[in-house]
Amino acid sequence: MLSQQGYTVLLLARPRDNAAPEERIKALFDWLGTDGIPSCVQIVPGDLNCSDLGLSSADYHLLASRVDEIIHCASDTSFSERKRSQIEKANFENLHHLLGFAAKSRCCFFHFISTAYAAGKRRGVCPEALVDTRSFFNVYEETKHRAEKSAAEYCGREGIRLNIYRPSIVYGNSRTGKTLRFNAMYYPVKILVFLKNLYLTKNGEQSREGAEKMGISFGPGGTIHMPLRIEAAASGGINLIPVNFFTAAFSAIMETALDGDVFHITNDKPKPVSDIIHYTQKFFTITGIQAVQTKDFQSSSQNRLEMLFNRYTQVYRQYMQDERIFDNTKAAAILDRKGISCPDFDYSIFSTCMQYAEAVNWGNPS
Ligand SMILES: NC(=O)c1ccc[n+]([C@@H]2O[C@H](COP(=O)([O-])OP(=O)(O)OC[C@H]3O[C@@H](n4cnc5c(N)ncnc54)[C@H](OP(=O)(O)O)[C@@H]3O)[C@@H](O)[C@H]2O)c1
Repeated sequence: MLSQQGYTVLLLARPRDNAAPEERIKALFDWLGTDGIPSCVQIVPGDLNCSDLGLSSADYHLLASRVDEIIHCASDTSFSERKRSQIEKANFENLHHLLGFAAKSRCCFFHFISTAYAAGKRRGVCPEALVDTRSFFNVYEETKHRAEKSAAEYCGREGIRLNIYRPSIVYGNSRTGKTLRFNAMYYPVKILVFLKNLYLTKNGEQSREGAEKMGISFGPGGTIHMPLRIEAAASGGINLIPVNFFTAAFSAIMETALDGDVFHITNDKPKPVSDIIHYTQKFFTITGIQAVQTKDFQSSSQNRLEMLFNRYTQVYRQYMQDERIFDNTKAAAILDRKGISCPDFDYSIFSTCMQYAEAVNWGNPS
């Protein structure tokens, strides 16, 4: 998208698993279906975790002389408390390497991709502004929040304009279903499919016994009955946006909001968990799953299937019970004018995404 807008993109990337940055980026563009790496994209091998971005002094100064704007989208997106130190380094502590580079370069505009969940445990309406929050659901939210503040302070001091973009939960392309990652929205669905396949493929006497222990039974036409209650909020739902909406919105805001501000790139219509359960059951021929409110969920003890499902999906629990509203007045003012809107995550889009997920075996080599 940036290359189509006439920018020269200097793309900082690091090696991984014996693959050089060039190789990795080439594979990415192949996956995107472009004819090789576009000529306006130049790869800069580097690492944000290293001082001087892992560049030689000569390369560092050469790069600094060429950069007018920086888009910072790299992040450690794990929620795991066990990885706290690594996540803190990637998202917050080492941000000063990039901010320091911005100050030494020609950069006059810093674009920071944060997250709507930098709002932490704030309830009600989450404003499209820097907020003061001290309580978070996980280390990812916390470090993104701290990074926002750090970037705002640093850029303010150095006279660099700053836009903060806060997407909610991003899923694949709403038209093609394409995605590289199967976390977030995909993960609880993937677990249900995994459990379904576990019992269906072992559908002999012995596994029937195993299934029965879990309360699972089989119906005609490959239907499986899974008695599972999923805790959901009375209102609200999961705030989902497709990646194609995110890129269009990001690009429109970047081109329009030239003074520096904070923007929520979110969906005005969060998807109720009950709808996603309905879509999942319909697509994967499952019955027995229902969304229940907390008081009903807690009124009886969890069955084995519920305990198993909850253990796997614990980190996403609060995002499935989200009643908050992300104010997006400023983003909407720009996007409405440009005719960019977030599609409703309906059954048709869900099916497109799941067909893609199944076609690529949920990102696992078969
Ligand atoms: N996906 C969502 O639902 C969502 C929602 C809200 C906000 N966001 C934000 O959107 C951005 C992109 O998210 P994503 O889902 O695309 O995440 P992702 O798939 O985990 O990608 C993160 C990228 O950051 C790179 N990176 C991390 N540390 C780096 C370092 N030290 N040096 C160079 N590159 C580094 C990673 O490179 P490697 O491949 O080398 O590790 C990876 O390409 C993030 O800032 C995230 O916080 C995402």
